[in-house]
Amino acid sequence: MHAVNGSNRANFPAEPAAQRNAMKPSLWDRRRFLATLGVAAAAPAWSGVTLAQTRSPILRPIPATGEMLPAVGLGTWITFNVGSAASARAPLVPVVERFFEHGGAMIDSSPMYGTSEAVIGDLLARTNGRPRLFSATKVWTYGQAAGERQLEASLRLWGIPRFDLIQIHNMLHWEAHLETLKAWKAQGKVRYVGITTSHGRRHAELEKAMSHSPFDFVQFTYSLADRDVEQRLLPLAAERKIAVVINRPFDGGDLFAAVKGKPLPAWAREFDCENWAQFFLKFITSHSAVTCAIPATSQARHMAENMGALYGRLPDAKLRERMVQHFVRL
Ligand SMILES: NC(=O)c1ccc[n+]([C@@H]2O[C@H](COP(=O)([O-])OP(=O)(O)OC[C@H]3O[C@@H](n4cnc5c(N)ncnc54)[C@H](OP(=O)(O)O)[C@@H]3O)[C@@H](O)[C@H]2O)c1
Repeated sequence: MHAVNGSNRANFPAEPAAQRNAMKPSLWDRRRFLATLGVAAAAPAWSGVTLAQTRSPILRPIPATGEMLPAVGLGTWITFNVGSAASARAPLVPVVERFFEHGGAMIDSSPMYGTSEAVIGDLLARTNGRPRLFSATKVWTYGQAAGERQLEASLRLWGIPRFDLIQIHNMLHWEAHLETLKAWKAQGKVRYVGITTSHGRRHAELEKAMSHSPFDFVQFTYSLADRDVEQRLLPLAAERKIAVVINRPFDGGDLFAAVKGKPLPAWAREFDCENWAQFFLKFITSHSAVTCAIPATSQARHMAENMGALYGRLPDAKLRERMVQHFVRL
């Protein structure tokens, strides 16, 4: 189990060693977390500052380096594709502020997501998140040269000198882009290289790519509504020491429709869940092979709910099974 703050730590059962280590922040992470507190100190009193200041976020190691990453990140498909009008972008400022105040770091985007990358660049310039940011975008085009041009454009849109993570989106022309990404990594233009899929597509091919190519990260879909990756991809990622990013953690929002009008079970308090969003996210982040889930939201109040999953205890194997059975019977 994951411990929260010191005051009630004694009430928690012992946590497994692997998970304990997963929670231990490195020096680098401490610096980033302190940077968060800097953001929090400047934030209004109602904005979740207490949470960030008094509790430790759940961090997971990136196997390739041991660097620690907060287990809840932010997706930007649809929700950040709002165009260039200031009036459309303004409501996203508090969304991103809440994200960083609550200890978030990874923002995931793609050139496929319309104006999302330009919107991220704008929002980063208008918030204090840059010191904490773990930037993750994708390359999504045919041809190596076109891929390089797309990546240079993404750097300009985000307004950053390098990416933390570049992923090959939906495995599109992945062998060609992998050559570029290896070169970019050697030049220091990206720190980690990854590959993605979603909706259960092309899993057999992804398995081969994960088995034979040097990926630091993989991204695919996992949620209470879609558990296919438990069979092969999650165990393979653990075996190959590949960090795992989980997309569509709310099944694109459909999980909320499935529980509409249904009360959260009382036993969800055993792993510090206050709402269904945290129930769905903690199911994902409690899987030992998962590094980070990336829910998307356009609403600051949803962001506060989602980031609550970054704190408190996680369900153990028995509780995870109970979550599955409960969801199946809904
Ligand atoms: N192939 C790929 O690489 C790939 C494919 C798919 C997705 N992705 C990545 O994964 C991210 C997440 O997936 P997704 O955006 O498809 O779906 P998702 O995160 O599973 O669901 C997003 C939906 O959930 C709603 N929501 C979020 N928090 C909520 C809350 N607390 N209460 C009620 N509703 C809530 C959002 O509406 P509100 O705006 O109203 O909160 C939105 O409609 C994407 O944004 C993208 O970055 C990658």
